[in-house]
Amino acid sequence: SMGAMGMQHRMPMMGQSTDKLAGPTALASGATLRQLPRLANQSKQPGQFRATLTAQPRSVALLANPTGPATEMWLYNEDTVAPLIDVFEGDRIEITFVNHLPQPSTIHWHGLPVPSDQDGNPDAMVEPGGTRIYTFTLPLGSSGTYWYHPHPHRLSSEQVFRGLAGPIIVRAKNDPLATYPERHLFISDLKLLADGVIPPNTMMDWMNGREGQYVLLNGQHQPRIQLNGNERWRIWNACNARYVRLSLNSHTFSQVGTDGGLLTHAVHDLKDIVLAPAERAELIVSAPPQPTSFLLTAAPYDRKKMTMGHGSPSDDPTIVLAQIKTSNAQPLHLPDRLRDIAPLDKPTATKKIVFSEKMNMLAMGMNHDGFPSGMEFLLNGRSFAMGRIDQESRKDEVELWEIVNHSDMDHPFHIHGAQFQIVEREHKGQITPEPILAWKDTANVRPDETVRLKIVQTLTGKRMYHCHILEHEDLGMMGIVNVV
Ligand code: C2O
Ligand code: CU
Ligand code: CU
Repeated sequence: SMGAMGMQHRMPMMGQSTDKLAGPTALASGATLRQLPRLANQSKQPGQFRATLTAQPRSVALLANPTGPATEMWLYNEDTVAPLIDVFEGDRIEITFVNHLPQPSTIHWHGLPVPSDQDGNPDAMVEPGGTRIYTFTLPLGSSGTYWYHPHPHRLSSEQVFRGLAGPIIVRAKNDPLATYPERHLFISDLKLLADGVIPPNTMMDWMNGREGQYVLLNGQHQPRIQLNGNERWRIWNACNARYVRLSLNSHTFSQVGTDGGLLTHAVHDLKDIVLAPAERAELIVSAPPQPTSFLLTAAPYDRKKMTMGHGSPSDDPTIVLAQIKTSNAQPLHLPDRLRDIAPLDKPTATKKIVFSEKMNMLAMGMNHDGFPSGMEFLLNGRSFAMGRIDQESRKDEVELWEIVNHSDMDHPFHIHGAQFQIVEREHKGQITPEPILAWKDTANVRPDETVRLKIVQTLTGKRMYHCHILEHEDLGMMGIVNVV
């Protein structure tokens, strides 16, 4: 473990360190925010959703200069943003995955309670040229905002930063906010060189997680949004490693949902909201009384990372995500109660997961296979091993998971198979009970912090838990819990 290091002189050569990043205007901006493309349902049968997702390299004109070179992205189906899977609780889902990538892959249904053998785990790879069908039924109570992405061991970060990640909405049949017009903001970031190439990870990308210089909404750079009356915004942070502190200049908004669906009641007058990688939120955003315009920005969030001697994360600039124009202010009357969330029972078993990292300055460098040496990202002192079971849980038993961060960086903890409830956070002896009861599948853990959460797995089988900075996951910050 280590803090900021004054050791640029020892930094190994990285290969692409001289390649030029594309500048701030290399991508066009200012177009109207597009709606997410939708994955069409091929089934005529009520209650059934059947479709195909093909992962494939595609050459895309991203650069604003129309004669500039094309960019090779890896996409689900054809569009630069993967299609929205928009379904209902109770639906039977059947998705055929066709892998036209040059690498093995899987599709993981992030946050959804699907059987473990349908969850795109890294032990069930679909080889290049291969096909498989994922099937599962969405249980009642599973309405919420989820996403899908590849989960092959060691290759997830690359597959996601090349473009493979898509949104899922599961709707309840009686949704108290169904009358609000919805807007979907699927946030990703893109690292692009001036010649249009998406470069491989550098050593620093591996260490801190990769952050692209462009932050995109629905695949668009700084689009325009016409905010009309009161809108329900669903927001996904699908970035590999970027934390976003969203704000609307000084305009306030209400939060009505988290990863796993609606809160019990709205939280009003928020000025900003931080989404760690993989987190989602549902907001109600209202046009102010007088028509106006303002920006949707990602202000710096001081996540701890390695700085190699120059700069610090708090020097990060505020990034403009979108320009907003408002119209048609309407009074906002949200229902008092959005839904019931029963607090999970008293836990009868405990798990402790410790994040740590080991940096070996003298061995640090890049290998020929594109992976770094000299850095280890560990859970409970060990790196991921495919055949090893790290934890055992009993089906239907409420457990307390204590996530301890002994590293010098923030790490977003994520577990498959079930939504959890955060109980409290402890930092240097100071305990803060979680202010709101909510369903979550991802929780950030600050350095020196412990997050305690309650979880119950209702399906048997092997489940992954890991840091959702995808570079850390790929480098071994992942474990397996076997639910029996
Ligand atoms: Cu979103 Cu195991 O991942
Ligand atoms: Cu997941
Ligand atoms: Cu991490």
